[in-house]
Amino acid sequence: MTKDIIDTFAIVRDVPESFRQCVSTYNTSDDIDTDRAILQHQLYCNTLSSLGLNLIRLDADDSLPDCCFTEDTVLIIDDLAIITNPGIQSRVAETVALEKTLSLFKDVSRISLPGTLDGGDVLKIEKTLYIGISSRTNAEGMRQVASVLEPRGYWIKPVEIRNTLHLKSVCTYLGNGLIILAEGYFDVNIFSGFEKIIVPKEEEYCANCLVVHKRVIIPKGFPITKALIEEKGLPVIELEMSEFRKADGALTCLSVIF
Ligand code: GLY
Repeated sequence: MTKDIIDTFAIVRDVPESFRQCVSTYNTSDDIDTDRAILQHQLYCNTLSSLGLNLIRLDADDSLPDCCFTEDTVLIIDDLAIITNPGIQSRVAETVALEKTLSLFKDVSRISLPGTLDGGDVLKIEKTLYIGISSRTNAEGMRQVASVLEPRGYWIKPVEIRNTLHLKSVCTYLGNGLIILAEGYFDVNIFSGFEKIIVPKEEEYCANCLVVHKRVIIPKGFPITKALIEEKGLPVIELEMSEFRKADGALTCLSVIF
């Protein structure tokens, strides 16, 4: 019998005043409204707290415009924090604050060059880590994760992705064998043993959902996908994510939960 592991902490980092300078491929990145992003982030934090997570809230750093996207900076697996090496130079220094905080809780290991890895490319399902090989994460980054985790009983599976930032931009796990994904970005046969929700083309952004204590947090404004999730009997919470979407960010990007 497997024991339910209850997540208790979420590391979040405040939105910096420099947020408009974040890395983004979204056409209208100039239109990011930082005040609105700060408000949306506050509601995100309130939601995690209301679901029983203890927030560890790090200060923003204005020299790091993407610093609110904590997910990319670390993988937490059991008693180990693997500090990543983000695949874009402007984000590498974001790891410093996360390492300082997590070394209070966990053993620390690091991904180093020539390996690169963004946490948004890592989808953990039970004892398997699916790792997106992307513009940010390379095979060497994945190999370094494998060298640390395979001796601990984990399986590592590469997923070649295309035309999107991260694996989890287009695919997340809802628990109980259920995956939600957008088609056309990777070979979905890798998930052949899973039940799937395929998001409609016009709602692809909703393939990134965040599950906290059996509630599914989804971005606001995706009614078809919301109904598909609810049909599975899963309770849904909607959050406005408009400003983070413009920054190529999504719900999972904004926290590290452990
Ligand atoms: N703006 C998020 C990223 O590019 O990593």
